[in-house]
This record gives sequence, C-alpha cells and structure tokens, in this order.
Amino acid sequence: MKRVPKGNDVGRVARPAERVAVYPGTFDPITNGHIDIIERGSRLFDRVIVAILSNQDKSPIFSVEERVRLIHQSLGSMPSVTVETFSGLLVDYARDHGARAIVRGLRAVSDFEFEFQMALMNRRLGPDVETVFMMPSETYSYLSSRLVKEVASLGGDISGLVPAPVARAVARHFAAALRRRTR
Ligand code: PNS
Repeated sequence: MKRVPKGNDVGRVARPAERVAVYPGTFDPITNGHIDIIERGSRLFDRVIVAILSNQDKSPIFSVEERVRLIHQSLGSMPSVTVETFSGLLVDYARDHGARAIVRGLRAVSDFEFEFQMALMNRRLGPDVETVFMMPSETYSYLSSRLVKEVASLGGDISGLVPAPVARAVARHFAAALRRRTR
C-alpha cells in the first residue's frame, strides 16, 4: 500500500491494481442517461473520473465550472466518482490519471458510427487505453443534452430527464435568455 502524495489525492491510499476509468463528455448539461452510465461504471471500476471537456467550440450554455457544480449536485454520494475538467487529447488525460479505460454510453445504432471512429482513433493514439461501451437503461435511449436544451428552450417539461438541480439551472438559463431577447 502506497501513499499518493499530491493534489486532490493527498492521503489517499493507492491500491496496487486500482481499476480507473474516465467517463468523458461535454455534459452540457448532465442528463439522467449520463447518471445511469456513471452508476453502471462505478459498479465495474474502483474509480470513475467524470471528465468534462473544457472546449468552447460547441457553444455550451453552462461554463465548465457550472457543469462541475451541477454534476456534483446531481451525483449525491458516490465516493468512487470524481469530477474534473480536461483539455487536449483524451488518451493523454486518461494515461496521466492512471486510467486504462474510457467509458462511453451507447444509446442506439445512431451513436455507433461516431463512437466507433472515436474509439479506434483513441486506440491508435493510446493502445494501452481501452474504450468500454455501456448501454443506459432503455428509459433513456432517446435522451440527449441537445434535446433537453431544445425542449426546455421551447418551454417543454424536462423533469425526469435531468436531475432536479439541472432542471432548475436550465430553466433559469432560458428564462434569462428570454428576458435578454425581450428587453
Ligand atoms: O459528450 P460528447 O460531446 O460526445 O464528448 C465528446 C468527447 C469529449 C468525448 C470528445 O470530443 C473528446 O474526447 N475530445 C477530446 C479530444 C480528443 O482526444 N480527440 C481525439 C479523439 S477522437
């Protein structure tokens, strides 16, 4: 048993063959489908790092700091799950954090092509990091952050699709956007 000396891990004990997975994504915002995958991942791995890509290319509605906060509020007590941000190549991030697996959710066949490309590119870049696909509960097979935002922006009900703190934050975001437009 060896002490890990730095950062957030001060005082934590590094177990010899700790199985660490990274669950990367944009999470703008996190949905109940993402939570479902995190729960499944945490049953398979000793530690799951939810890694939010800090990249403004996709014009997110929430800053990375807000996304970190919303994920923390949504997860409740899951001691083996941490939430971080990353930039640059995912496989470099995974390696730097001792993760041998990348977890991705597969909802439907339509996800497959992009995920397949990404998994093979990541394998080429980092052959020692394996991509593991997990299917969320079928309840969430149609659910995406993009659809949640679209529905909420048009006044639709997103409760049950995202955790309650996220539903409130999304509602606040679109109410503020509406006020700005009508000013
Ligand atoms: O939630 P998303 O938008 O589907 O997540 C995409 C993400 C963050 C997993 C992907 O864009 C990513 O890994 N970006 C990091 C850059 C990288 O490593 N690119 C090369 C591998 S395709």
